[in-house]
Amino acid sequence: MKNISICVGSSCHLKGSYKIIELAKDYIANHNIGDKVNLGAAFCLGRCTDGVTIKIDDEIICGVNENNFQQIFDEKVLVCLD
Ligand code: FES
Repeated sequence: MKNISICVGSSCHLKGSYKIIELAKDYIANHNIGDKVNLGAAFCLGRCTDGVTIKIDDEIICGVNENNFQQIFDEKVLVCLD
């Protein structure tokens, strides 16, 4: 089980965290991994200037956007599922 939290603090919100949440939901649905992934929202993860910030298990990843989303999720989520 992977725990993914997407920051919806004000700074990340302005940088598009809701778009990232939508992308994450689509990604999970398209890969049919809904039973292996826990997707949630988090309040400020302390890296506001580098948003959008997400947390995958204990790893903080900054600067997530529409362009790098796919690569990050492929590398950090898909390959790590057991
Ligand atoms: S608002 Fe997202 S890290 Fe602070």
